[in-house]
Amino acid sequence: MNRRNFIEKTTLTAAGLGLASALPARSDTSRPAPSDSLNIALIGCRNMGFGILQHHLSNPGVNCVALCDIDDTVLNEKAAEVKKKFNQTPRLYKDFRKVLEQKDIDAVIIGTPDHWHCYIMVSALQAGKDVYCEKPMANSIAECNIMVKAAERYKRVVQIGQQQRSGYIFQKATDLVKNGSLGKLRKVNIWANFEYGAGQKPVPDSPVPAGVDFDMWLGPAPKRSFNPTRYHGSWRHFWDYGGGLVSDWGVHLLDIGLWAGNITAPPQKVLVYGGNTFHEPRSRETFDSMSVIYPYKDFVINYDVTGGVQKGPYDMPYGIEIIGDNGTIFVDRNKLSLYPEWDAAAKKPRTEEIRYTEGKESHNEHVKNFIECIKTRNKTACPPETGRAAALHVHIPNIAARVGESMLIWDDVNNRFTNSEAANALITPAYREPWVLPSF
Ligand SMILES: NC(=O)c1ccc[n+]([C@@H]2O[C@H](COP(=O)([O-])OP(=O)(O)OC[C@H]3O[C@@H](n4cnc5c(N)ncnc54)[C@H](O)[C@@H]3O)[C@@H](O)[C@H]2O)c1
Repeated sequence: MNRRNFIEKTTLTAAGLGLASALPARSDTSRPAPSDSLNIALIGCRNMGFGILQHHLSNPGVNCVALCDIDDTVLNEKAAEVKKKFNQTPRLYKDFRKVLEQKDIDAVIIGTPDHWHCYIMVSALQAGKDVYCEKPMANSIAECNIMVKAAERYKRVVQIGQQQRSGYIFQKATDLVKNGSLGKLRKVNIWANFEYGAGQKPVPDSPVPAGVDFDMWLGPAPKRSFNPTRYHGSWRHFWDYGGGLVSDWGVHLLDIGLWAGNITAPPQKVLVYGGNTFHEPRSRETFDSMSVIYPYKDFVINYDVTGGVQKGPYDMPYGIEIIGDNGTIFVDRNKLSLYPEWDAAAKKPRTEEIRYTEGKESHNEHVKNFIECIKTRNKTACPPETGRAAALHVHIPNIAARVGESMLIWDDVNNRFTNSEAANALITPAYREPWVLPSF
């Protein structure tokens, strides 16, 4: 089935899928919503942040007016690329606080490691900027809570970088569940097997590279020596900065299970195995192997993670299997297959077989949705509360494994675990001075 047939058959449009539900226009801001032009700043430029910036700049009227990174090499390389590809000359910064003083900035992209997301996002909201914040929304439960409250208080447009929410293929998958094609939802199986999840080979500490403000890279995280395996890209495997493969891919993939199952809140209960099963010593604090069960009222999500390998079911390193009474959907970022169950009495499949390949890039769609919402002041495809639900689905099992609990019960009203004080001690990070956890 090609894309055109698929769209005609399902008669679904992006608008019909409820990508942007209507919210009242903003009324409390001194700056008018931009109409023809949009000035963007990027904080954290190396990898994903720069990709997201480029998606912004491929839209008419979008200007890059500031780039900020603590690493001069990254900053200068990206500034040269912006000049070459887009003929734009942003102002360059090493301190994001100075960026937020620049008055002509409408929106900020946060592409730093996870431990910085909360502080920078709250500061940007306070400065009156809209925010595209990369996923996972934050590196702790408390920071996620703060970010939801801050977005509500300052009434800014916020998009969390779970771009699969804007991916047509995932909209289709979740729609097949919601419109009854799959029958009653029974189970969602999710896996993420990636070589990088084992971490890098250990190397000794070394001096901080020239042109790097490493203290500003650490920010609110504890002071630590410099090691390249805990820096650009590989920070993911250290608790003070990220949540390992479990959280890196988990927020994307679990988000689809939550969407399919109509779950908008954190899990009440998780059953967890977390351990290290990779055969070589690696530079890593997070777990290379994790199995998590999320029991819901009448269905279950299973999430399985293996670092150090790159193969999995359906010959894919990652994927989502959605099982209903009428069939099973397999979906990844490019393919969707619906395998129907056989109705023996009626002598026919219980639902229509589907094979579909997606051609569109979801980051681009997610950015377009953000730009549209900046103009309309509508709610984005992935607002903070959706980011929080996904993030707590990875932080809670990580906390369980860290404190050696095979089961945790989460009380979302009182924001605490009811069965482990050791787990409660990991809800809120201790910020290193002079940084102070924003309070709401
Ligand atoms: N949505 C996706 O598919 C996707 C994919 C990859 C990464 N990400 C997310 O994007 C974020 C960045 O990941 P990455 O792979 O690009 O990491 P990275 O380490 O490659 O880049 C992070 C950049 O932030 C800079 N930085 C750190 N602290 C800073 C500060 N205080 N001020 C300014 N710059 C600072 C670093 O110097 C570096 O250039 C993470 O939250 C990650 O989870 C999302």
